Amino acid sequence: MALDAKGVRKIRAEFPALMESVNGKPVIFFDGPGGTQVHRSVIEAMNRYFASANSNHGGAYLYSRRTDEAVHAARSAMADFFNAARPEEIVFGPNMTTLTFRISEALGARLKPGDEIVVTRLDHDGNVAPWLALESRGVTVRYVDFDPGTGNLNMDDMERAINRRTKVVAVGYASNALGTINDVQTIISMAHAFDAWVYVDAVHYAPHGPIDVKELGCDFLACSAYKFFGPHLGVLYGRYELLDALPPRKVRPAGDAPPDKFETGTNNFEAICGAAAAVDYLASVGKQFGGEYGRNSPCVGRRRELKAGMSAIREYEKTLGQALLVGLMKIPGVKVYGITQEEKLDQRVPTFSFTVKGLHPREVAKSLDRENIFVWDGHFYAVEAIERLGLMGQGGVVRIGLYHYNTMEEVRVFLEELTRIQGS
Ligand SMILES: Cc1ncc(COP(=O)(O)O)c(C=O)c1O
Repeated sequence: MALDAKGVRKIRAEFPALMESVNGKPVIFFDGPGGTQVHRSVIEAMNRYFASANSNHGGAYLYSRRTDEAVHAARSAMADFFNAARPEEIVFGPNMTTLTFRISEALGARLKPGDEIVVTRLDHDGNVAPWLALESRGVTVRYVDFDPGTGNLNMDDMERAINRRTKVVAVGYASNALGTINDVQTIISMAHAFDAWVYVDAVHYAPHGPIDVKELGCDFLACSAYKFFGPHLGVLYGRYELLDALPPRKVRPAGDAPPDKFETGTNNFEAICGAAAAVDYLASVGKQFGGEYGRNSPCVGRRRELKAGMSAIREYEKTLGQALLVGLMKIPGVKVYGITQEEKLDQRVPTFSFTVKGLHPREVAKSLDRENIFVWDGHFYAVEAIERLGLMGQGGVVRIGLYHYNTMEEVRVFLEELTRIQGS
């Protein structure tokens, strides 16, 4: 069975925050790019941890052992989510940005003046600022541009930027501002041809499609559980040999091997339990709605279910995205940024940014809020991208993020409201 309207109705009922009505009108949650809502099983897993463990790790007593078991299980779940070779390649932290600063600082210790790092103007600042911080060591940071008309990274620019001095290429899997899915596979090949490491920011892509670090061959990949239906937690994949070779700052008693040496201080164990539950939820989507993706996948176990789940999600989201795009393009005065051709929907996730002529983005977001439609406006920390679009001084854009728990009816109601707001 594919993921369809009936399946989505069933799924939605398991997300408490999606079931709320305010003043008799249901809430329409379109700010998944800022943070998705959580599945019931995530809330239950976190409650369970508090009720039956809630102790530090590495101790001699039962509750501590339960914590150790839960963390190990969560690392295995994340290893399946990324298709990592082993659970020790998974590092937990407060969020993606903090983990990225931690890696950039550790990597920076190995760099020398004249070395180069490549970043892009399409990326969230969480994958730019940590690399800019290394300029104080004499490292040169090169920017790769994107086409403001299409939202695509300029791959010629990328090819020109990577050279024998390049040590790291930092690139996003998908843009949180324009929705573009970048050709990370090609970028990884370009970087590896010069022995440079690739740091992939998969925060925005993770809830929309399957990730396979083995297939990609990336060196690092970071994401955040709160963007894929889990709690506020950062998760990093690093190739074991690289994590092992890097020297992070750490307290002396903390373990010297990965992942311990990167996990500064006491972990957020309850969030780690929640992240594992989010992965299991996505696997359950695969089990229920994976259909042919599940049957044809060469993977086994939870990895197979995850791949099937994420593929089913991607297919369903494409139909929603198409309806939203077609509707937006018909409203006078609305300008959509990024990929706008229906036949190119495969090259983007259903995150749509737009402006409405004569209306400040905050005004549009506030008007939508009055109808219980929750959206974000501004630059979303994708500061280079919004600057490049020439919109920084005008309040940026309004952003709609569609997820597998959203419905055609929500898209219809939103388009109707936006048409009214535009015409008022
Ligand atoms: C694409 C992208 N990268 C990085 C981040 C930063 O993630 P975190 O809040 O976990 O630091 C975000 C957050 O919105 C994002 O959308």
